[in-house]
Amino acid sequence: MEHGLRERVGGESEPLSDGAADCRDHEHREDDFEEHVEHEGRRYRHGVDEPGVAVEARAPGRVNLIGDHTDYTGGLVLPVAIDRWTTVRGVTGGSRVRLRSSAFAERADVPLPAPAAEVARSRGPQVRPFAAGSASTASWTRYVAAVVEEFTPRTGFVGTVRSTVPVGAGLASSAALEVALALAVGFTGDADELAARCRRAEHRATGTPTGIMDQLIATRAVAGHASLIDCRDRGIATIELPPRDEVEIVVVHSGVGHELASSAYGRRVAECERAAESIGPLRDASVDDVAGIVDPVIRARARHVVTENARVARFVDAVRVGDLPAAGQCMVESHASLRDDYAVSIPAVDAIVEALCAAPGVFGARMTGGGFGGCVVALCRPDALASWGSRAWRVRAVGGAWVRRDAR
Ligand code: GLA
Repeated sequence: MEHGLRERVGGESEPLSDGAADCRDHEHREDDFEEHVEHEGRRYRHGVDEPGVAVEARAPGRVNLIGDHTDYTGGLVLPVAIDRWTTVRGVTGGSRVRLRSSAFAERADVPLPAPAAEVARSRGPQVRPFAAGSASTASWTRYVAAVVEEFTPRTGFVGTVRSTVPVGAGLASSAALEVALALAVGFTGDADELAARCRRAEHRATGTPTGIMDQLIATRAVAGHASLIDCRDRGIATIELPPRDEVEIVVVHSGVGHELASSAYGRRVAECERAAESIGPLRDASVDDVAGIVDPVIRARARHVVTENARVARFVDAVRVGDLPAAGQCMVESHASLRDDYAVSIPAVDAIVEALCAAPGVFGARMTGGGFGGCVVALCRPDALASWGSRAWRVRAVGGAWVRRDAR
């Protein structure tokens, strides 16, 4: 498949991609789940034309090193897929997508959109819905419904979702779920189409007009690299990261969960549109153009976007020549801009950024993702944040999503 999205069909047991190799250590034997899938597989084989296919699909979360609130204006971003994944495992068959989650009690039980459901129904007996299930509008099941609606799978699916991506932490857990699930229910196109359609599913699920960054990094990440994404044309340059014995990427959760849907995200998007109506596409605008915007709030929002694009470029140049203090300085300036001009930080996050930046061996730190809580990302010398204990997660840059299908 194109763009680094790997796929194997027919019982391969070898790792499928860098992402698969990265996660081997994290595999747990899930006997209860295996039994569950085996049971469902037997049911589908009985009286259904097509035997079920066992599927495992996995997509990573991400941390954005720099370039926040620029993607929906066609700007530059520099995310890294991290060694935290959402994994969907199960078996195809039936006319509903039924999933249980290791994290939430509610189960997703979504009928396939017609006419696929009618076709499947005509094939024979169907499995029973989950006892407690319904096409719920609550929480994570909304994403399942949105993915099903967007990808209109040909057959149903029954399985489990497990995730090590913290929810509401600004690490793109929803994109990881959308991408893993779309692959699990049979998407076979290229990685860019997968990302674009998962973004539409996100919009359906949340009503929030998010950008393309999270879905693109989940599908196209390359292990050991950050991805410089030009959100105007979706071009991606992979930026090799320094070895981990020289510099670490550390993530600290503020403990304040953000909720994109209930946040001011949509208002920021609208404010950027107003700025663009006044001075043209922000991607092409200069700081002087921005200075001509009359409304002070719109001017501040535009100033953030224009200066953030420039900082992403400076950060990349600094990393390419190994100038980590210069890269760190870009992160510090980025945080100030998100806090003061874009107004998407909160005091708890500002305090963490400040404390991290004061620690010896830290090159820079900033909020990451949509804001209003969530996480801080820092670049630092190895073990510089050892005293922070488990609060400081050292993350690794991993590859993008993958799927394995085993004919049964
Ligand atoms: C969320 C959105 C992204 C991006 C970031 C902010 O993660 O999903 O598209 O806009 O916020 O950079």
